[in-house]
Amino acid sequence: MGMEQKLSHGAIERAKFREMKEGTAEDWALIGGHFREFASGVADRVLDHLKLLDGDFGGFPICRLEHSLQTATRAYRDGRDEQYVVMALLHDIGDTLGSFNHPDVAAAILKPFISEELHWICQHHGHFQGYYYFHYLGMDRESREQFRSSPYFDACAEFCEKYDQAAFDGDYESESLEFFEPMVRRVMARPLATLYKMEETADA
Ligand SMILES: [Fe+2]
Ligand SMILES: [Fe+2]
Repeated sequence: MGMEQKLSHGAIERAKFREMKEGTAEDWALIGGHFREFASGVADRVLDHLKLLDGDFGGFPICRLEHSLQTATRAYRDGRDEQYVVMALLHDIGDTLGSFNHPDVAAAILKPFISEELHWICQHHGHFQGYYYFHYLGMDRESREQFRSSPYFDACAEFCEKYDQAAFDGDYESESLEFFEPMVRRVMARPLATLYKMEETADA
C-alpha cells in the first residue's frame, strides 16, 4: 500500500493491472483519456527542453539556444513556411540527450508533425553540416555525398548553407523564443501521422 501511494503522484484513478496482459477495456479507456491530455502538452515540454540549450556554448561563438533561434529566424525571414521554421528552431534540440546522434533526436520528435522532406533534412543535417568542418577534425567533409541520390539532397544542402552553418553570428538580431512559441504549438497541435492511429481518428 505504501508503495502504491508513493507511485500515485496524485493520480486519482488508475488502471488495475500488474501486467499488461491483465488489462481491461476499462483500464484502457482510463489510460486513453490521460494520453490525450498528456500528448496535448508536447509542445510545452519541447519548448522547455529547448531552453536547456541556453548558455551552452561548447566553444562555439554563440550558445546553442541562440544558434537555434538564429537558424529559425534566418529561415523565417527568408519566407519559409511554419513547418520549416519549427524544424529549423528544433534541429539541434537533441544536443542534450543525443550527444552522438543529435539529429536523430530532433527528427524523431518532429516526425509526426512535418513533411517527409523536412524530416529528412532534420535527420541528415549532421552529415551536411560536416561539409563545413569535418575536414578540420580529420573526418571526410564529403560525408554527405553518400546521400547524393536522395530527392532531398539539395534541400538539405540548402538548409545547412543558408540557415544552419550561417547561424553563428554573435551580432545577428534573432527573434525571441516567445516569437516562435505559437508556431511550435500550431505545428505540434496535431500529428499528421502517428503510431497511435486509432487515437487520432477517434479525435478527428
Ligand atoms: Fe546540428
Ligand atoms: Fe545547427
